[in-house]
Amino acid sequence: MDINQVGVIGAGQMGNGIAHVFALAGYDVLLNDIDRTSLDAAVKKIEGNLGRQVGRGKISEAEAKGAMNRIGTTLTLSDLGKTDLVIEAATERETIKTAIFEDLIPHLGPQTILTSNTSSISITRLASRTDRPEKFMGFHFMNPVPVMQLVELIRGIATDDETYTAMKNVVDRLGKTSATAEDFPAFIVNRILMPMINEAVYTLYEGVGSVSSIDSAMKLGTNHPMGPLELADFIGLDTCLAIMNVLHDGLADTKYRPCPLLTKYVEAGWLGRKSQRGFYDYRQDPPVPTR
Ligand code: CAA
Repeated sequence: MDINQVGVIGAGQMGNGIAHVFALAGYDVLLNDIDRTSLDAAVKKIEGNLGRQVGRGKISEAEAKGAMNRIGTTLTLSDLGKTDLVIEAATERETIKTAIFEDLIPHLGPQTILTSNTSSISITRLASRTDRPEKFMGFHFMNPVPVMQLVELIRGIATDDETYTAMKNVVDRLGKTSATAEDFPAFIVNRILMPMINEAVYTLYEGVGSVSSIDSAMKLGTNHPMGPLELADFIGLDTCLAIMNVLHDGLADTKYRPCPLLTKYVEAGWLGRKSQRGFYDYRQDPPVPTR
């Protein structure tokens, strides 16, 4: 299965990183969003991140320029109809994702592989709402996409071997490494990571430690690059809460119950870095713990 043209839906944090790594690997990328400002911001961000890689001697000027030249943008979803592979990286809400697939499908050729970068929604259920469940997969990148080595590959119940092999080969061409997960709530990474983050919030909630002591303990005590609360802010507290809810609902086990303090932060709109405030206040440099 020959994949040359790739469509990416959603120009946010994940979408721009995905467009970046595909363009750098030589794919033609068409990035779609409903908002022109987001598309322009994404292109600027990709240019900045490629520049950072040039500055660190990871890639050459020519490679960065080539990657930028391979990225196109469009506000029209149907323009993605001509691509060989579509990666949906829109807002993490099932109704939004299914609406996007419904709009896109009439414009797709029969060979196009459809994937979702969802961090926790059932691939089998998303696939069942399309005309091609056998050509549908979960394709889960980690943030920041240009830096993180892993891509989780999630097969729905109907995904065929040809699609799975094609996606595995794409991950190889990106220079990344795949881990294959069965389609159960939150797959592998978030099934393990989110309960750890949630437990860190409980540790804070119960007064076992402060934000600084919890993050220092885990950074220095277990060699994690970021403490769990800093990482939660980096991922987005709304995303962390949504994934805990998927685990809690999907596995029906009280061990996945979201910490009330996590819910409170989300209710306050303190969503982490993206809203300037979460477990740290990013309006000050360096950021200051909020508890
Ligand atoms: N694009 C390109 N390069 C980037 C980048 C970006 N967006 N962000 C960082 N980098 C590069 C830097 O240029 C630097 O490169 P070199 O090593 O070649 O010098 C390297 O990454 C490290 O960056 P910094 O020195 O600026 O910062 P750091 O050392 O503090 O590392 C970090 C930053 C890579 C984000 C590190 O803190 C880290 O690995 N954190 C944990 C990230 C993590 O766990 N991500 C997974 C989240 S879970 C997820 O994504 C799944 C989900 O569904 C929620």
